[in-house]
Amino acid sequence: MSPRPRIYATRALPGDAFAALARDADLAVWPGPGAPPPARLREACAEADGLLCLLSDRIDRALLAACPRLRVISSVSVGVDHVDLVAARTRGIPVGHTPGVLTETTADLAFGLLLAVARRIPEAERFLREGRWTPERAWEPELLLGRDVHGATLGIVGAGAIGCALARRAAGFGMRVLVHSRTRREVPGAEWCDDLPALLGASDYVSLHVALTPETRGLIGRAELAAMPPHAFLINTARGEIVDEAALVEALDAGEIAGAGLDVYAREPLAPDHPLLALENVVLLPHVGSASRATRLRMIDLAVANLRAGLAGTPLPHDATRS
Ligand code: GLV
Repeated sequence: MSPRPRIYATRALPGDAFAALARDADLAVWPGPGAPPPARLREACAEADGLLCLLSDRIDRALLAACPRLRVISSVSVGVDHVDLVAARTRGIPVGHTPGVLTETTADLAFGLLLAVARRIPEAERFLREGRWTPERAWEPELLLGRDVHGATLGIVGAGAIGCALARRAAGFGMRVLVHSRTRREVPGAEWCDDLPALLGASDYVSLHVALTPETRGLIGRAELAAMPPHAFLINTARGEIVDEAALVEALDAGEIAGAGLDVYAREPLAPDHPLLALENVVLLPHVGSASRATRLRMIDLAVANLRAGLAGTPLPHDATRS
């Protein structure tokens, strides 16, 4: 690393890799709570050689234009839809991200959401905690009946690392697995489906694992939801904007699909009056796909390695402007 570069971090992060940055660089850290307001971010980045950010920070063209010194952006996330990659590429600024290290953890959560919504686990827990499990209702034959996961068909949209990791979990549950992706790729144990509507129509569960790009924004809209059978469930741990949320609320409310397990939303955090919150047939999580302690530390280690490489002028271990 060149002598004492200036780094701006939009959040204090746990772990030794982050702590070590302060020894080698002038490290300024936004104290929180939450993300720095855009004006503060712009002001801090104007002075910075390196930026360490999260997916809640919007790094757009205007911001980059105001950062003459910036040599590297490193995001503690695999997704980089919050960064204007075209603008960064034009300015020759590499953008670090953290693929690989969160694959298994995110697939665990996607499968957990699938189980939770299919077997109504959060609803059942609410029922018990709210004191509704009374002697009159004990072992009621039709109490909280859900849908089986074993032996059902899972349609995976996106054949990247997380989609493949989900397919492995599904195999353990004896599921038939269908996969559709823009580019054909062999996924062990899964059947390839060239056609998205065909996959949607044949699946009991559909799980989304594509990156948010101009091509995938709104990929699941009214027509795609209508193609799903009424007993089917949608799982989304990728990005909220891949789904037309208004159409999803309508489909859930009208019983056009059976339910949804969501970890991501078009706008995060979810507004307290969001119509999804009024629905019983959804399980809603606060974007915690990669949130295990070990995985978050691995993501931070990798993000710091990306940052250091960019400051040293060497190729980043994972540069999203090159993929
Ligand atoms: C989480 O959504 C990530 O992109 O890391």
